[in-house]
Amino acid sequence: MSGKRTPEDYVFLERLGQGSYSTVFRAVERNNSTKNYAVKVCSKRHIIQEKKVKYVTIEKDLLNKLGQGGHPGIVRLFCTFHDAENLYFVLEYVSGGELLNLVRKHGPLPEVWYKHLFAQLVDTVDFMHSHGVIHRDLKPENVLLSHEGRIVITDFGAACSITTAGRDRSASFVGTAEYVAPELLLYSQCGLSSDIWALGCILYQLTQGIPPFRGENELQTFEQIVHLDYKWRVVTPQQVVTLVQSILVLDPLLRPTSKHLKQNPWLSAINWENKSSLWKGIWE
Ligand code: ADE
Repeated sequence: MSGKRTPEDYVFLERLGQGSYSTVFRAVERNNSTKNYAVKVCSKRHIIQEKKVKYVTIEKDLLNKLGQGGHPGIVRLFCTFHDAENLYFVLEYVSGGELLNLVRKHGPLPEVWYKHLFAQLVDTVDFMHSHGVIHRDLKPENVLLSHEGRIVITDFGAACSITTAGRDRSASFVGTAEYVAPELLLYSQCGLSSDIWALGCILYQLTQGIPPFRGENELQTFEQIVHLDYKWRVVTPQQVVTLVQSILVLDPLLRPTSKHLKQNPWLSAINWENKSSLWKGIWE
């Protein structure tokens, strides 16, 4: 089909998620209802009121750059369109829900599971970073799972390009309290290594069932982060403890890069070239 699409080209089904200025629905094409999509609907009025025009534009540009099927771990963007009220992102539908729900349901996960989940996250973040994109809001809610165990990173609403990162006071805290890196809290600094910090928090959470830093309120959480105040509750392989410890350091320059992570001894059996081996056959 050629030309711009309109909302009438889709049948909107149940709500999949809700953000501060967007709602995601499952949808099918009116002419061909065999394939599911996740359509993110952003209210123009809200975006303008909340001064989020810049972020929505960046989200669209970055997804156009990364989400064209270039990597299985980045949510695919099929098209965008708008009407008088809303902007629409037609995204790949990912059927297995959020990684957060998997952790909520199972608590601490078995090592084979979290190894393959983490390897996929590292591979996807490496792809993003090699294209100069910092996600800035990596957390288990923004990681979706397909029914076969493939992870898909979504919600690039806080993301930025490496060229505009660095010391950017206006964008100081855009992430989620529990996964925010200390340099953002202390110096309003954000770089590729802030995503790596979030990966460290996520790996910890997969092994322990809860994130490393969680206070009774945001301020307490921030205090724990800047003091590296976390404990291991569930027995965890030493290689994993060492890996998380190497990531959760205050100085972002001392953190491993995504390339370093791919070389980590705990992941030595991972075949990075064969992408589908990172999820196929792990969950049976
Ligand atoms: N919730 C938010 N985005 C989604 C997507 N792309 N697929 C399924 N559920 C979602």
